[in-house]
Amino acid sequence: MARWPLLSVLSCLLFGVSWTSALITPKVFILTMFDSEANVWFDIPEFNVLAQNITIPGFSPLYPDAHCTSDGNVCLLTTGQGEINAASTISALLYSRNFNLTSTYFLVAGIAGVNPKLATIGSVTFARYAVQVGLQYEVDAREIPANFQTGYFPQGSTGPGQLPGSWDGTEVFEVNENLRQLAFALAKTATLNDTDDAKAARAMYGTVATFAKGASAPGIVLCDTATSDTFWSGNLLGNAFENTTKVFTNGAGAYCTTQQEDNATLQALMRGALFHFVDFGRIIVMRSASDFDRPPPGQDVVANLIGATPGFNPSLLNLHLAGVKVVQGIVSQWNNRFAQGVRPDNYVGDVFGSLGGEPDFGPGSIFGGKPARA
Ligand SMILES: *[C@@H]1O[C@H](CO)[C@@H](O)[C@H](O)[C@H]1NC(C)=O
Ligand SMILES: *[C@@H]1O[C@H](CO)[C@@H](O)[C@H](O)[C@H]1NC(C)=O
Ligand SMILES: *[C@@H]1O[C@H](CO)[C@@H](O)[C@H](O)[C@H]1NC(C)=O
Ligand SMILES: *[C@@H]1O[C@H](CO)[C@@H](O)[C@H](O)[C@H]1NC(C)=O
Ligand SMILES: *[C@@H]1O[C@H](CO)[C@@H](O)[C@H](O)[C@H]1NC(C)=O
Repeated sequence: MARWPLLSVLSCLLFGVSWTSALITPKVFILTMFDSEANVWFDIPEFNVLAQNITIPGFSPLYPDAHCTSDGNVCLLTTGQGEINAASTISALLYSRNFNLTSTYFLVAGIAGVNPKLATIGSVTFARYAVQVGLQYEVDAREIPANFQTGYFPQGSTGPGQLPGSWDGTEVFEVNENLRQLAFALAKTATLNDTDDAKAARAMYGTVATFAKGASAPGIVLCDTATSDTFWSGNLLGNAFENTTKVFTNGAGAYCTTQQEDNATLQALMRGALFHFVDFGRIIVMRSASDFDRPPPGQDVVANLIGATPGFNPSLLNLHLAGVKVVQGIVSQWNNRFAQGVRPDNYVGDVFGSLGGEPDFGPGSIFGGKPARA
């Protein structure tokens, strides 16, 4: 019996928690980026994540609390938009000492721009690769050399289409492919929302054969995501980032959705995984498509950025409709499938091989295939 007080003393020393505070051990943590994405998870029939509000030092002043169900199984946070907000908030969560996140599944659940060559507005996508396409050299397009298509080219290179000559390590992240397939199958059981306005916006892409998927009905799609703080638009930048994604992932990734946070979120999670605060094999990157990344044929590129976004509402609703199937699947099959983790057969991690293993993209592990930290 005397072991219990001893253990408590030890855990107080190790984790700095008070005698009375219990760690919340979520099965799923939903990561949203701004209020509209969070709101679709409130007042839902499936669970109440507003049963516990926990203020976390280091969270955004706009979104100061983590929210959890009363049993702590499902939690949600809002990072604030952009890479800096995402990295800061996720780091604050990991080192907050309110949570035991070692077996938690992280579900990135946000909206994104979409490449009409691969998917359409309203679709819900699950990524294997996240590529930081904004982390490059850039010159203004009016001053580019004649052989450049756009102003972007990789750092340490002499022009577009080359591998970066120097890497920062966050250019590419790869997540657990087996887990992605499970999430995809669960999401497929959802009936998605759609609207007449979204259908009309989609139809405008039907005149160009390469945009056939953009003009088709929305669905659940496996395709990769690109991160850039810049909210960009247009065919040239779209084509440039398709190329960047291909080059950075050794041809394996296909740029499909564009957003402003995921590589930052993944970098913060990767750093926590180095110290076993989280399991990098338990991350799902779900992005629904709210708008096209380029205008319909013959339309203005700036209007595409500042005009109406008929995909906005259905994409938000679909985050919940598809995402809740993933959350419920993980919670209900916890004991027989998810508690022990879903073993990845692919490389998972960053460009540098920080978590161990040999990346299938970039210059190879800089730690000789071993984890950066034993
Ligand atoms: C948590 O915060 C929300 C508002 O963000 C509020 O509606 C809810 O009642 C709060 N929950 C508790 C238990 O105080
Ligand atoms: C955290 O949770 C895991 C399993 O969910 C458990 O094995 C571990 O002991 C917990 N750690 C702490 C500090 O409570
Ligand atoms: C961002 O993360 C994605 C998804 O893991 C990865 O494919 C991509 O390469 C990353 N990009 C950068 C620049 O970090
Ligand atoms: C989509 O959601 C809107 C707004 O709630 C609703 O009016 C519409 O009927 C829904 N459509 C479908 C197909 O569920
Ligand atoms: C993308 O790469 C292809 C093939 O290398 C090239 O022809 C095209 O000009 C590139 N597009 C952009 C916008 O860089």
